[in-house]
Amino acid sequence: MRTIEWKEGVVVTVDQTKLPNETTILKMTSCNDVAKAIKMMKIRGAPLLGAAAGYGLALTAYHSKAETKDQLMEELVVSARILRNTRPTAINLFWALDRVIEKTRETEGNVATAVKAVIEEAERIATEDVLANKIIGKHGSSLIDDGDTVLTHCNAGSLATVDYGTALGVVRAAWKDGKNIKVIATETRPLLQGSRLTTYELLQDGIPVTLITDNMAGYVLSEGLVDKVVVGADRIVTDAVINKIGTYTIAVLARENDVPFYVAAPESTFDLERSSEDVLIEKRDADEVVKFGGVLVAPAGIEVLNPAFDVTPLKYVSAIIYEKGILYPKDFQRLSTQN
Ligand code: MRU
Repeated sequence: MRTIEWKEGVVVTVDQTKLPNETTILKMTSCNDVAKAIKMMKIRGAPLLGAAAGYGLALTAYHSKAETKDQLMEELVVSARILRNTRPTAINLFWALDRVIEKTRETEGNVATAVKAVIEEAERIATEDVLANKIIGKHGSSLIDDGDTVLTHCNAGSLATVDYGTALGVVRAAWKDGKNIKVIATETRPLLQGSRLTTYELLQDGIPVTLITDNMAGYVLSEGLVDKVVVGADRIVTDAVINKIGTYTIAVLARENDVPFYVAAPESTFDLERSSEDVLIEKRDADEVVKFGGVLVAPAGIEVLNPAFDVTPLKYVSAIIYEKGILYPKDFQRLSTQN
């Protein structure tokens, strides 16, 4: 089943804050519902944020009472503004909104044609994501050897995408290719996407997975327990990969221990008009750090820093796997000269 689906004016997904203990289905009927779910992390992961943003506009269009295409466009612009103000770092969200708005603007015809164009474009974004992940998996599998142990961080699996996953897509494809691999998943504090979601997905697929806390990354890498690192990305800019907080630490440790560090992401995650200094790193609520399972684990009122992402300079990246192939350091120069 896809992580997100369009069902005639309703967008259906699973509430990721409740996993793995409860499978709660979320039914959204407005762009505000989608925006709220994104802010509350019920929907998360860069490609899924893109698909959800597209569907958010589809909900606006489907339920619109606009009588002209111009009126509909105005409503879509308002909805896009609401969705843009949810989370700032993953480019996929902005990419999808721009894509749907542009497609609708250039579609000729009346309001009904425009509504149809919005829904179709949102559906296309979702379908293309699944396809891209499958191809990324195929390319990525060529970098994984039989017997490898792959370390991954956060959750870049089916739940972070429409289906299959990026980093976990590579793992899935290697497994399907008959490679006897194992995964080490970091728990990914503070929201535990690794322990709650990555382990859950891999167990469902029967792929061996071992959970570690984030501060054990140095141990497993220096002890020779990891052959490859594969992570996803929220934004790939001209000089760096921006991904879940802790990725940079793992990349530096991988380099220090001669372990390849691979990034798997679709082209919708590339933002080659910006460098890392132009990207806003989301800072989240202190409660995520000072509370564990709702229980205070730090002195009340303590000052907290809670960045959701960090910046890994390209010099630590061994390759970027995307749907058009594999980019190696010799190709990275092209990333900064493409615009
Ligand atoms: O804060 P999240 O859970 O949305 O962060 C997710 C990540 O950092 C993922 O690694 C990234 O979005 C890639 S998902 C294919």
